[in-house]
Amino acid sequence: MIEFKNIVKRYRTKTIINPFSLKVNAGELVVFIGPSGCGKTTLLKMINKLIQPTSGQIFVNGTDIASMNPIELRRNIGYVIQNTGLFPHMTIKDNVELIPKLKGENPKAIEKKTDELLQMVGLDPKEYKNRYPKELSGGQQQRVGVARAFSTDSDIILMDEPFSALDPVTRQSLQDELFQMQKELNKTIIFVTHDMDEAIKIADRICLLKDGDILQFDTPENILKNPANEFVADFIGKRRIWNNPELLIAEDFMIPNPVKITAKRNILQALEIMKENKVDSLMVTDKNNLLIGLVTLKGIKLLNRNTTVEDVMEKNVLSVSHDANLISVLATMNEHRIGYVPVVNDRDQLIGLITRSSILSALSSQLIDMEVAF
Ligand SMILES: Nc1ncnc2c1ncn2[C@@H]1O[C@H](COP(=O)(O)OP(=O)(O)O)[C@@H](O)[C@H]1O
Ligand SMILES: [Mg+2]
Repeated sequence: MIEFKNIVKRYRTKTIINPFSLKVNAGELVVFIGPSGCGKTTLLKMINKLIQPTSGQIFVNGTDIASMNPIELRRNIGYVIQNTGLFPHMTIKDNVELIPKLKGENPKAIEKKTDELLQMVGLDPKEYKNRYPKELSGGQQQRVGVARAFSTDSDIILMDEPFSALDPVTRQSLQDELFQMQKELNKTIIFVTHDMDEAIKIADRICLLKDGDILQFDTPENILKNPANEFVADFIGKRRIWNNPELLIAEDFMIPNPVKITAKRNILQALEIMKENKVDSLMVTDKNNLLIGLVTLKGIKLLNRNTTVEDVMEKNVLSVSHDANLISVLATMNEHRIGYVPVVNDRDQLIGLITRSSILSALSSQLIDMEVAF
């Protein structure tokens, strides 16, 4: 756990960090993002005491770091920077094992861990362990940098734009590997970037900074959907949501409160309600608003006046959950060859209806926004 409490940083008269307070939970990957010069690196370096705050406190696992020995602290925090900082005259193995050896960990255990870590970052230990950094590509060196950061038994890793000098393909595969490793090893990570796609891909929460202030600290989903202000909206770009369609959920593109009817009404009443609302089907709900069926114009055969909705409705209606994402809703509709699908909440109550046109209109209103924005 890392906590900033009222951290201020001033150089002479210039204030770089305004009172800054933030809590990063254990096992969480938090991304700091913001324009160049907004204070990201400064905040990161304060955690391992490379920079002293002007005032305020930082707690690492509950201890105020002001009382901690900086060398000891740094040995227990993995740190990855853009130009790996690998020692050129040391082999990959020695680079990765440097800190565990300094800490006097068991040699057998170290050896095993090195192999595992190299494997995790996609480098075959047999092939690479005894090479020197200059015998590796930039991307491979950066993989070693990541492995080295994870080699300390510390549960905290700080990463300052570690992937920004890499080509897009290498970069994406390292993002995937980092994400996997973090889930497996459960480290607490603060990751600095200026790339929103990278942030969205790996973050549990994103802290958006500007001029030493927090503009928004929230999950990627919430930042994309509800940017706190114009600056955040501009920074993420309105088109972003369409690069991440899996973040759009049923609630975002359903028609709320669809026309419905109860099972005991008769079919003449059903026909009347359809006519009034210009629809050709009605959701059937019970008194608790649970979805129990669907009645369609085609399905209604006039038997007699007393035929009820219950007699003619389709039961076992397919529905989707309010938090199902766009991709899975489209897959459901295609798979079952249906043009609409009701949306239910966690208690199976009807809350909306998705139709092809509700999807289209949600999409096109966003596209219009996009054209205005760009
Ligand atoms: N030693 C220093 N003296 C004066 N200003 C500094 C010093 N170090 C950093 N700054 C300023 O602090 C601000 C934040 O820098 P930094 O944390 O490196 O930003 P970021 O990593 O977000 O790009 C910048 O405006 C930078 O010019
Ligand atoms: Mg920086």
